[in-house]
Amino acid sequence: MKDLVVLITGASKGIGAELARQLAAKGAKLVLAARNSNELDEVAAQCKALGAFAITVKADVAVEHDCQTMVTAALLAFGRIDVLVNNAGMSMWARFEDIEDVEVLARIMQVNYMGAVYCTRNALPHLRATGGRIVGVSSLAGRTGVPTRTGYSASKHAMTGFFDSLRIELDGSGVSVTMIYPGFVATGIRENATGPNGKPILVSPVKEGEVMGVEECVRRIVKAIEGREREVVMTARGKMGLWLKLFAPSLVDRIAKRAIEKGR
Ligand SMILES: NC(=O)c1ccc[n+]([C@@H]2O[C@H](COP(=O)([O-])OP(=O)(O)OC[C@H]3O[C@@H](n4cnc5c(N)ncnc54)[C@H](OP(=O)(O)O)[C@@H]3O)[C@@H](O)[C@H]2O)c1
Repeated sequence: MKDLVVLITGASKGIGAELARQLAAKGAKLVLAARNSNELDEVAAQCKALGAFAITVKADVAVEHDCQTMVTAALLAFGRIDVLVNNAGMSMWARFEDIEDVEVLARIMQVNYMGAVYCTRNALPHLRATGGRIVGVSSLAGRTGVPTRTGYSASKHAMTGFFDSLRIELDGSGVSVTMIYPGFVATGIRENATGPNGKPILVSPVKEGEVMGVEECVRRIVKAIEGREREVVMTARGKMGLWLKLFAPSLVDRIAKRAIEKGR
């Protein structure tokens, strides 16, 4: 990854911030985007302390102009883009019938799906020029249904369909597409997840101490970026579930239901 220019959305915390730190240690040049500029500055400082070049761009991926701005900032600072990591995302924790305002689902789709589309659309001509890499951070909920996650799962399935189709269109272009499907990872995403009333639920229903650590998740993502892997299904349960889904889909539904009830 040395000297490759990597644009990471959602780099202010969680998986995106840890990815920035691990790539900084490998000598990448980083463009870090998110809405919270104080948190972004902290992550950039950590990357610089590891010897990397890093810039920050305050951006909401749901706004296409902001996605154009982050691409322009990358080109102005480093003259090229080698890797785009579509990581920014938000979650929900509410049964569909309990949701007071259906607009919540539209917002999740706009951030998780259209955000990735906007960033990819603006970065793609520059990724073609470098034979670059596109990464989509989806979720196991992007491969199978999960209760309390109707809108989230839909947005992550949309990412899967978009990037699987784009990969075929880009065949022979030199640009690779890598999809990441994590299970539960210990970040703050659950506290910020939207509840039935449209507000963050604030307390995670997941046993955060028992799920995959963010460092381990990101080590696997870095390996996939380095190897231009097609996709990474993160957990043994996820791998087994996708295989089982081919001939026993209702069993996979029950596994997903139990995971939500148990919080791990
Ligand atoms: N943690 C898990 O269990 C898990 C499992 C499967 C998949 N994932 C996926 O992994 C990705 C990262 O999640 P995480 O766990 O690291 O969550 P996190 O700790 O909540 O971080 C989410 C990141 O996305 C950014 N973000 C959210 N909305 C944004 C917007 N509109 N515009 C720009 N940036 C935005 C946040 O920054 P600002 O708030 O500063 O904008 C933050 O940097 C997400 O796509 C998520 O769906 C996570």
